[in-house]
Amino acid sequence: MGAPKDEKPLINLLRGWPHPSLLPVELVKREPALLYAPDDGDLKLREELAKWLTDFYQPSNVAINRICITGGASQSLGCILQVFTEPVYTRNIWIVAPAYFLAFRMFQDNGFHDKMRAVPEDDEGIDIDFLRRELRKSEERAEREGNNEPVHKRARPWSKIYRHILYAVPTFSNPTSKTWTMRRREEVVRLAREFDALVITDDVYDMLQWSTDRTAKQAQLDKALMPRLVDIDSNLDGGALRDGADGFGNAVSNGSFSKIAGPGLRTGWVEGTEKMAWGCSQVGTSRSGGAPSQFTAAAVAEILATGELQSYVLDVLQPSYAARYHTMMTAVEEHLLPLGLTLVQSDREVIGGYFIWLTLPSHIDAAVLAETARTEENLLIGEGALFQVPGDTSDAVFAHSIRLCFAWEDVDKLLPGVERLGRLIQSLIKDGTAGKMRQQSEHDQEGKDPISRYW
Ligand SMILES: Cc1ncc(COP(=O)(O)O)c(C=O)c1O
Repeated sequence: MGAPKDEKPLINLLRGWPHPSLLPVELVKREPALLYAPDDGDLKLREELAKWLTDFYQPSNVAINRICITGGASQSLGCILQVFTEPVYTRNIWIVAPAYFLAFRMFQDNGFHDKMRAVPEDDEGIDIDFLRRELRKSEERAEREGNNEPVHKRARPWSKIYRHILYAVPTFSNPTSKTWTMRRREEVVRLAREFDALVITDDVYDMLQWSTDRTAKQAQLDKALMPRLVDIDSNLDGGALRDGADGFGNAVSNGSFSKIAGPGLRTGWVEGTEKMAWGCSQVGTSRSGGAPSQFTAAAVAEILATGELQSYVLDVLQPSYAARYHTMMTAVEEHLLPLGLTLVQSDREVIGGYFIWLTLPSHIDAAVLAETARTEENLLIGEGALFQVPGDTSDAVFAHSIRLCFAWEDVDKLLPGVERLGRLIQSLIKDGTAGKMRQQSEHDQEGKDPISRYW
């Protein structure tokens, strides 16, 4: 099938990194800051972020005391779990699936190996009825087991232990690029309040957005498509600080400079209530070493203060990612949809993020397709099983889905990559091998991470 692998240059549509040409290298060659940071991070960066986030999300109340500087969304997720969960008392980690797979290990690191549960999505976002049902069952179980208080950790003046964690990417999700409706966002916040859940959202793609109309002149989109869950929690039904609430809130936003400046900066922020932001800053590693990434945080503060990074997002990143998306999408429409593949939420006016999620015809197994693409076409794609919550026993399996990334590869390889994939699918359909060689997903094999070098 096709030419031998080594005659073809590698095309990597798996790796979810920004292309090196999109890094603002000139902007960040500035500013030494070699001392320890305050626990909650560089003050100037917090001030600049408060202004930018107010401008972009237009919430009523972003203030520096709601922001804590982090080492990026991954480091910050680990930190939130350390401060606000306990592996016994915290009943479950609810993960909207398919999910950003590199988050799984952070839940495992914090003792939640057996407590991760997938929550499916529908057209509006998270399946709220499923979540409500499962939360109830989880609470009934906790009651039967007498799970009434934390065993290994205690609440301290700067923290509390939540009963549930919900992890989601509600806007331009990784991997599906779905965006939740407003109604669904409000329902989730209400449910989180009812069940003492903390909703952790990775809001890392919100600024990378553009029009799906490829014929229209691309306007700069300098306002968020949707409020974050943390904004909704701030305002809905009396807000997070309403009478009788403990003041920690039920949503926290994980922001990152990885996608809008460069992942090597290892700098991001959390935003939540003042108590939440302060709690994050009091994790032991920050109490001892100060907020992470102080050097780069100080550099980022400078380029926000001049407005250069904000302009870079609008003038360079939005049009570049729009062009990449449209190039790949045109190829998908021409070479994949006629073969029976389908898209999610295809009728949107604004889209964003890094990825296109496709469902294969049901007789084509994504693991077989990804492995054959790698060995025979020198083409890397993300197979659905990667995004499946480990240990979850529900129906949330993605054996017939794939994720393609348009951010990493050279732009002139996006079309040839999709063409190779189309040819391969056609030949799998023709010779009837599409589902026969089903293998265990490499990702499921505990301890092994054989393809991690590609992402
Ligand atoms: C949903 C999501 N969260 C977090 C990250 C990683 O963010 P950071 O580089 O800030 O740790 C990524 C990067 O791919 C992502 O897609």
